[in-house]
Amino acid sequence: MTLCVTLSLQVFAKVFSHEALESYLPKIQLVIQESLRVWSSNPEPINVYRESQRLSFTMAVRVLLGFRVSEEEMRHLFSTFQDFVDNLFSLPIDLPFSGYRKGIRARDTLQKSIEKAIREKPLCSQGKDYSDALDILMESAKENGTELTMQELKESTIELIFAAFATTASASTSLIMQLLRHPTVLERLREELRARGLLHNGCLMPGELRLDNIVSLKYLDCVIKEVLRLFTPVSGAYRTAMQTFELDGVQIPKGWSVMYSIRDTHDTSAVFKDVDAFDPDRFSEERGEDKEGRFHYLPFGGGVRSCLGKQLATLFLRILAIELASTSRFELATRQFPRVVTVPVVHPVDGLKVKFYGLDSNQNEIMAKSEELLGATV
Ligand code: HEM
Repeated sequence: MTLCVTLSLQVFAKVFSHEALESYLPKIQLVIQESLRVWSSNPEPINVYRESQRLSFTMAVRVLLGFRVSEEEMRHLFSTFQDFVDNLFSLPIDLPFSGYRKGIRARDTLQKSIEKAIREKPLCSQGKDYSDALDILMESAKENGTELTMQELKESTIELIFAAFATTASASTSLIMQLLRHPTVLERLREELRARGLLHNGCLMPGELRLDNIVSLKYLDCVIKEVLRLFTPVSGAYRTAMQTFELDGVQIPKGWSVMYSIRDTHDTSAVFKDVDAFDPDRFSEERGEDKEGRFHYLPFGGGVRSCLGKQLATLFLRILAIELASTSRFELATRQFPRVVTVPVVHPVDGLKVKFYGLDSNQNEIMAKSEELLGATV
């Protein structure tokens, strides 16, 4: 994933700081609760991968960027964004109906919608604390004595959505698939929530979950880590050799592009026992297989250009697992689990068809909170 980030990494680090995550938490929880409510009110099985894409897009737009767009506008934004992503890698042939033309159109429409949302935003957040990534970006730029141009803001916004969208949707789908495949894992998650006093009869309402108690859920952490090891969403990344070096007897000249493979590393690393098994306990304190070296476990990449959103992504996945374990019942709607493919990101071939059954408690309260925190119901 290459982001032509026009802003300093320091600014992005602030966007994903502990304080920022703390402020995103109740909003992420609401977006997830709303989606699970919609999924479970559908009498038909849902396509988990497609709906997870919608969910992670909504999270990026409503929580990370703080856009208060209507449901109608959100649907339009999502389908335009999908057109943009689907045609990203097209041959540069500018003919009617070509992928290139569709992609350019989608990009222009997206930029217009985003510009509108950005222009309307200051009116919405007036008098409030800076509470989302876009606010932090604008504020940090001002602190550094620079004002971001509208073009820079639009580009940074699309880059952030792009980085968050496919990866988080892939990981969410894999998480749901593994919880379906391994009911004992789901039950152990419930036990952990019960033991911490977090599991009640109905939904977990905003405010009940805090960053510190989420982080203290050790088994949950192991489950998320194992999902990201076995179903790593990003297969690898590129680097440029800054100086000539030697690796396993092979000389890599300065200036060469080098690709490192995250998937192959996870698949072949000797530190992982029974590498193909879904075994969250491998990350437990007693076994700690990931502690046996720095570069065996790297779903978020490594070094200075590793994923900036990894804390946000893991927080999102943890909240999703908590909500699934506490408020949802769900079952596979096909006879067999689908095959998983790896391009462009890991996902099941049929998207994973699942029937959700929800618990109806607290729905009105969730809707009211959504209105207050996100400016709209999802
Ligand atoms: C499970 C979800 C995610 C996975 C597996 C993931 C993985 C990755 C990987 C492997 C890279 C490339 C690192 C490299 O070049 O070595 C990356 C870069 C990046 N990711 Fe994520 N990512 C996820 C979610 C997110 C989210 C939610 C955001 C938030 C917007 C985000 C923001 C970024 C950014 C800004 C970069 C570029 C960093 C840079 O170039 O310095 N990611 N991610």
